[in-house]
Amino acid sequence: MTNNAHLELVTEFYDTHPISEKQVLDKLVQDGFDLSAVDQGILQDYDQDHFGGLAATDTLARLVNISRSTHILDVCCGLGGPARYLAYHYGSCVTGIDLNQSRVDGAVRLTEMVGLEEKVSFYRANAHSSALPSDEFDALIAQEAFCHIPDKPRLLTECVRLLKPGGLIAFTDILATTSMTTTVRKRLRQEMAFLELDTLNGYQVLLEANGCLLKKAEDLSEEWAQILVERLIMYRSLKDQTVARFGDAHFEKWDRAYSFFVKLYTSGELGGGRFLARKRAPTDPRPN
Ligand SMILES: C[S@@+](CC[C@H](N)C(=O)[O-])C[C@H]1O[C@@H](n2cnc3c(N)ncnc32)[C@H](O)[C@@H]1O
Repeated sequence: MTNNAHLELVTEFYDTHPISEKQVLDKLVQDGFDLSAVDQGILQDYDQDHFGGLAATDTLARLVNISRSTHILDVCCGLGGPARYLAYHYGSCVTGIDLNQSRVDGAVRLTEMVGLEEKVSFYRANAHSSALPSDEFDALIAQEAFCHIPDKPRLLTECVRLLKPGGLIAFTDILATTSMTTTVRKRLRQEMAFLELDTLNGYQVLLEANGCLLKKAEDLSEEWAQILVERLIMYRSLKDQTVARFGDAHFEKWDRAYSFFVKLYTSGELGGGRFLARKRAPTDPRPN
């Protein structure tokens, strides 16, 4: 598959995803909110697109020692839910990048809606070649997105380039297990746009190869199996909205793909992980 074909597959996947700016706004109205009076405290329960909700973002925030003075980069930020949350709750400045223009446009509008545009900004960029300046950020996070990026060595090199020396990178991602077959990989690529899945060990090796000191690699597979069963129920609850936007056939296709994905967790064929690493600084002792 060419690089352009990869990008088109991921873009199309998120252009037709059940979670969107429109779906977020429709759900707020459906729940009785006046959109002109929605603040971040309300929006934060509607705009996240990762496993484990706000608690999962809090965990990453704690891992990177977030404070008001942290400038944090959210790689593959989607509609900007975690970025706004970090700015609002911790007072940090947050930059978000995402490949998908409709996600970036939605992120900008939702941020303006809740008045956080002074603290949070978004750019369209491919995570493995962002063109952002080197050594810029105190911390970097990402949630359930690296699975969409095929060239992991290039991705990790780019992430580490953007961090200041001594900066922290914390991310969660969907992981392959040793029992995963080629047929399953192919199906996940076609149906979920997971272009390449790495492993718990694979990410540790890559972080260290890119000049980081690995501080944590946690296996979240069991925790996620539970979360994903609930997520499937949530997507099914969006059936009417998904059908109204993309038709019956699209909903059925999505439902088949997501059910297959969730089953891989409950059967132990897919995993999840959370990583924390620190970019080495010139003053650090040399690694052995
Ligand atoms: C599961 S969503 C996560 C969104 C966000 N982190 C959140 O938790 O709400 C994955 C995001 O990764 C983005 N993405 C996929 N491939 C990308 C790439 N190569 N560069 C930048 N963003 C990418 C998608 O457009 C999508 O918005």
